[in-house]
Amino acid sequence: MLIDGHGRTVDYLRVSVTERCNFRCQYCMPEKPFSWVPKEELLTYEELFEFIKVGIDEGIKKVRITGGEPLLREGLENFVEMISSYKNDIDLALTTNGFLLEHAAGKLKDAGLRRINISLDSLKEDVAAKIAQKNVLKKVLKGIETAHKVGLKIKINCVPMKGINDTELVDILNFCKEKGFPIRFIEYMENSHAKNTAKGLNSEEIQELIRKSYSFQKQEREGSSPSQNYKLDDGYVFGIIEPHKDDFCSTCNRIRLTASGVLIPCLYYEDSKSIKEAIKEGNIKKAAAILKEVLANKPEKNKWSSEDSNETSTRAFYETGG
Ligand code: GTP
Ligand code: 5AD
Ligand code: SF4
Repeated sequence: MLIDGHGRTVDYLRVSVTERCNFRCQYCMPEKPFSWVPKEELLTYEELFEFIKVGIDEGIKKVRITGGEPLLREGLENFVEMISSYKNDIDLALTTNGFLLEHAAGKLKDAGLRRINISLDSLKEDVAAKIAQKNVLKKVLKGIETAHKVGLKIKINCVPMKGINDTELVDILNFCKEKGFPIRFIEYMENSHAKNTAKGLNSEEIQELIRKSYSFQKQEREGSSPSQNYKLDDGYVFGIIEPHKDDFCSTCNRIRLTASGVLIPCLYYEDSKSIKEAIKEGNIKKAAAILKEVLANKPEKNKWSSEDSNETSTRAFYETGG
């Protein structure tokens, strides 16, 4: 079992396979970075897998593949297959923007993927295009539909933004409710890459908008989920991810690995440590020791939840794996 310096059990590894993305979401990567990490600096799937095995052997029970946009990296289904066949009860999931999903969903399912979380910020073509800075909606909806058809379990993520998609939260919720997909609204996490015009809605504002159409009850927090859930009278449950609340981090069970082999203990902070050399040397003991060292120093809380509401991370999700 992996325990961090604050006594939290860490059993969830998020692995980013690329920082590249085919969207330019206003809250994440509004402009293409000056340069991408060169391809030759990335770990191969085999090398990433070597580390994942270390994690699983030490107590990781859930692995989520993220990015950037993970479907941009070729042969992702082979990577999924490596992980799923190492330990078949691993909770193996993917987070994607959905744009390339239509043609990938079947292969991923066959390779052993179980769950998929997809971003859906708007159901209006022009608004979706404004957020992602690309005409994306039709392809994303097709991707969601195909993933559902092939039997992947789906969750939808939506980042409510002031003056952009805040008038459609109930429509997006209704869409998900009809399809039977859980939705989580995510409070925008301030970061220095985002457009400084980006303004997120907080949990209370999101609830107020939904309350205009539905009454609902706050649920007990479930395990280490980042989501605070709310149940509508008809039983449908939606969630709000509230990183600005203090209790958000107390049950954090996550550690992140980037495509270049950097272990990131918290979404907010810059501290990190590379396992690249250890993996390239085939030194599994050293990789396990670095993992434990990073966990021993995992911060207690992010800073978005601190008193000063102006806290801004220097990193966006495409760099950390979200
Ligand atoms: P499930 O396994 O379905 O519960 O997925 P998940 O919520 O862990 O994964 P997903 O990639 O859908 O993450 C949704 C969002 O939750 C992330 O992009 C973040 O916005 C937020 N989140 C996840 N982990 C953390 C964390 O450690 N800190 C903060 N601040 N936010 C997090
Ligand atoms: N704040 C909140 N959510 C974000 N996402 C990406 N960047 C941010 C941010 N700064 C969301 C994406 C995706 C999920 C992994 O995180 O929309 O659904
Ligand atoms: Fe790409 Fe996801 Fe970032 Fe949007 S939020 S730019 S889809 S990595």
